[in-house]
Amino acid sequence: MNNVATYLPENQDEVRNRLYQGEIYLLPANEASLTLTDAVLVLIRESLGDDFQKSHEQYESDDFFQRIGRLRKRIYTSEEFQHLTEVVIESHDFPVEEQAYDPTRLRVISHKGHQNPGAAPIYYGHRDTWYSNPQAMITWWIPLHDVFPEETFQFFPWYFDQSVKNDSEIFDFDAWVAEGQEKRIGWQNKQTGRTAGYPQLRQEVSGETIDVIARKGEVLLFSGQHLHQTRKNETGKTRFSLDFRTVHLHDHAAEREPLNVDNRSTGSSLVQFVRPGARGSGVKNVP
Ligand SMILES: [Fe+2]
Repeated sequence: MNNVATYLPENQDEVRNRLYQGEIYLLPANEASLTLTDAVLVLIRESLGDDFQKSHEQYESDDFFQRIGRLRKRIYTSEEFQHLTEVVIESHDFPVEEQAYDPTRLRVISHKGHQNPGAAPIYYGHRDTWYSNPQAMITWWIPLHDVFPEETFQFFPWYFDQSVKNDSEIFDFDAWVAEGQEKRIGWQNKQTGRTAGYPQLRQEVSGETIDVIARKGEVLLFSGQHLHQTRKNETGKTRFSLDFRTVHLHDHAAEREPLNVDNRSTGSSLVQFVRPGARGSGVKNVP
């Protein structure tokens, strides 16, 4: 991948500063990331079989949707997976007690999934911050198998600090979670993609793109401010990946973060992040 760094600076403040300036990192798989991916793959195989990348051919869509929903809930909420997530964070020298994090979500991009109107929001161009997420948020993205550009997503790096037309003002965190956690975490109401308001890019974009290509267990790190968009997958295989998000709490408090250029969402997701430095708070208390 062009314009992507493959190792982190030694100094942690420098790592975060570079991320806040738009640097993207693709880090080698390590023991921690492979332990996490392998633990998830055990569950996926139990639910979908060994040929899980062909599961769109084997299961009716309602059945497939429910199987994925159960997996997502287990991975997001269980202490086992939260622990494995923390180990990944620490394995790259991010002091876990200084972070708050939104636990690991399973992402599944089906072959021709974009033809399902209920899945349309998955393919919207967006910044992760448009979903009431902190400006200092960093997204960690980990593929569960080797992935190629036509099944992943693209960055539009020129727009990192340039405003774009968008409708992020439709998104309010408190309204989003008023009926519970299903929409936020996504385990998942089939109607949500049709009825809920998901912010999206509202203009054409041009210029350089960065296409994501990665091996199983590699860790892609990027600022939540990066404009990006999931590709329409017509590879004949369903793509499986994980992601979670971290916020360095001191940076957040000090507003050491990318300048907000166009995010008008309201409220903050941070209240529901897990805080290892203050055990007992965060998502575990959420219904
Ligand atoms: Fe995203």
